[in-house]
Amino acid sequence: MPSECIDLVVTSPPFALTRKKEYGNEPIERYLEWFLPFCHEIKRILKPDGSFILDIGGAWIPGAPIRSIYHFEVAVALSKLFYLAQDFYWYNPSKLPTPAEWVTVRRIRVKDAVNTVWWFSKTEYPEADNRRVLRPYSNSMKQLLKNGYKARKRPSGHDISDKFGKDNGGSIPPNLLEIANTESNSKYLKLCREYHIKPHPARYPEKLIEFFFDFLLGDSEAIVLDPFAGSNVTGAVAEARGMRWIAFEKETDYLRGSMCRFLDGPLLNEQAIELVLGGHSARGRGK
Ligand SMILES: C[S@@+](CC[C@H](N)C(=O)[O-])C[C@H]1O[C@@H](n2cnc3c(N)ncnc32)[C@H](O)[C@@H]1O
Repeated sequence: MPSECIDLVVTSPPFALTRKKEYGNEPIERYLEWFLPFCHEIKRILKPDGSFILDIGGAWIPGAPIRSIYHFEVAVALSKLFYLAQDFYWYNPSKLPTPAEWVTVRRIRVKDAVNTVWWFSKTEYPEADNRRVLRPYSNSMKQLLKNGYKARKRPSGHDISDKFGKDNGGSIPPNLLEIANTESNSKYLKLCREYHIKPHPARYPEKLIEFFFDFLLGDSEAIVLDPFAGSNVTGAVAEARGMRWIAFEKETDYLRGSMCRFLDGPLLNEQAIELVLGGHSARGRGK
């Protein structure tokens, strides 16, 4: 792949988990050694104003109710290659209360429901505009805009000017992204069921990717890359926007499953499905 050709890399590599996923996870001790060579390549192929969004969950130390700091070590190591533009926290309210031993059996920890999402960039000013991700104002803010705001000093010492009372079209989101991961009746799952393909066990939600596309991509000509694509949510969101995307995935079964995300309209017919899903087609096998 040529250097400096990608606008945005969004990815979620295998985490260093205590309970291994079926696609294999590097152990905590070897994680950086395994992951850093990928990051050097990501740096090479990113455009100067591009961004690298890394969704990386934390891990528990096996057999003890204590946390690993490997995901912070990843951030520290990558801060020597990139700038840490900002740290995000993805809160998934639908996460199960695990690890069960500490959370639901002994009740000595609370459920772990937040992934760190590190935003790295090659320069101090990557393409970004928070006006593209504004949220609706709260009722109290709407009230305040209607009644006018009196400039005054906050108890915190912050001097809030009367500009605070200006309607900017919405509120600026925080770096805590609350997105439930509860896909249950998508086309992907439906077609996976129909063609007896096991869905990918660690998919991230489209909304997470949509947020970063909106925030970090200035134009529709952008090219995005997901080097650990799994079921290729990244590619599917890009495709739906008419954008160009590149995805890598080492497991053929996940790649086959990911094709279910792209069967649509005129493509969604018996022949095309047989062609794409080949031996995985339940109909094909049943004949
Ligand atoms: C956490 S999953 C990604 C899930 C994805 N974000 C989704 O929503 O479906 C990580 C993926 O990386 C893949 N993977 C691991 N090592 C890889 C490698 N060297 N090259 C490409 N893919 C790899 C695994 O097979 C797994 O599907």
